[in-house]
Amino acid sequence: MAAPIRLRDFQRIVFFTGAGMSAESGIPTYRGSGGIWKEYDYQEYACQAAFDRDPEKVWDFHDKRRAAVAKCEPNPGHRIVTRVQEEKPSTVIVTQNIDGMHQRAGAKDVVELHGSLWRVRCDPENVVRPDETMPMDPRKCSCGGYWRPDIVWFEDQLDHRVVRRAREALEECDLLVSIGTSGVVYPAAQLPRIAAERGAMTVEINLEDTPVSSLYRHRLRGKASDVLAELYG
Ligand code: APR
Repeated sequence: MAAPIRLRDFQRIVFFTGAGMSAESGIPTYRGSGGIWKEYDYQEYACQAAFDRDPEKVWDFHDKRRAAVAKCEPNPGHRIVTRVQEEKPSTVIVTQNIDGMHQRAGAKDVVELHGSLWRVRCDPENVVRPDETMPMDPRKCSCGGYWRPDIVWFEDQLDHRVVRRAREALEECDLLVSIGTSGVVYPAAQLPRIAAERGAMTVEINLEDTPVSSLYRHRLRGKASDVLAELYG
């Protein structure tokens, strides 16, 4: 595939990433074959109601996810994104991923729209802190309540401060590269429209077409790492 654009020709790049960015690291996506939501019902494992009903069950699920992610390494695609950010410090990474793989590849100031597997919070005490224990221990806060994964679950609101950072980056960018997202989860899926409407160059990298493909000037079909290597070359 001859690269229609070169990353080096742009100054203010936003990488907007989804689960497909981490697929080559061995982390399952959510909706593809072998997807997490094919095996687990999110209403039992990834929403506030499930947590209120059975926090131990929800933590067992997230402990499994922590253990699975911890076994994986960032892939060449993550490393290219980091390298671009090192070369062009105004590069912003906006991710829906909670796996922390961009950070493990050395990326800075990653905008985590859906939170992180590696942070917990106690809502009654309004405390948020990093946590990489496996399994998560202790599951209970000193106030007696359960620590909650600091993840944006279904039916949760996104953190407006995080959304604002994403909006600002998309308003200012001259290139948006969307990587490995199905574009079906809102409000995150709405965000790339900001860059397109501002006249930025827009590229979608995915194995297949998505419901938002028409938004993008270039729709590049292939694995994230391969296509990024082409665009970086
Ligand atoms: N390279 C490029 N794209 C890929 C690759 C790959 N190696 N592997 C899979 N993909 C694509 C799939 O074709 C699909 O379009 O990645 C996309 C993954 O889609 P989803 O599983 O729906 O993941 P995502 O879009 O990130 O989900 C959004 O939904 O479940 C919630 O909060 C969760 O952040 C998540 C949100």
